[in-house]
Amino acid sequence: MILPIIAYGDPVLRKRAKEIYPGTLNVKTLSENMFETMYEASGVGLAAPQIGQSIRMFVCDGQPLNEDEKEEDIDPTVIGFKRVFINPEIIEEAGDDWAFEEGCLSIPGIRGDVIRPEIIVIRYYDVDWNEHEEEFEGMAARIIQHEYDHLDGKLFTDYLPIIRRQLIKKKLADITKGRTDVDYKMRFVK
Ligand code: NI
Repeated sequence: MILPIIAYGDPVLRKRAKEIYPGTLNVKTLSENMFETMYEASGVGLAAPQIGQSIRMFVCDGQPLNEDEKEEDIDPTVIGFKRVFINPEIIEEAGDDWAFEEGCLSIPGIRGDVIRPEIIVIRYYDVDWNEHEEEFEGMAARIIQHEYDHLDGKLFTDYLPIIRRQLIKKKLADITKGRTDVDYKMRFVK
């Protein structure tokens, strides 16, 4: 089922999401709906607060980034990178900081450079409640870091320099009011 994506301005995107207790929620069905919603919007990650659920869970699939790429442009870090992360905890960040222009399905039409460490170690549960500890790097790590931030009410725009944030202020206000052009279903603050 495709769900509307919550637009910038909704307080749910600013809340610290709650831990999920096994058996209290059908995480399998929810993750399927989240993947469907994410693919429909051509995203590579989607966090539960973005569909209005303030719970600690997000889905990622970085594989589409390699579609239509020439062999030399294939990003090895996202090969096979499709996961559901439940109650995740980033336990280590390492490597060099690097900048990449990020975007967010809740903030259509705005992109900006965010600097993040290139390697992470994350502990999480999958939809069968098996615990995992895994290391990711490069683009896979970045997608996780971005989605993980959503669970703590943090958005990529928070990292932008103050000048840049001033420049996008009006655009953000427009998104809040529903004045934006998107080809996927969104829910705006009235
Ligand atoms: Ni996002």
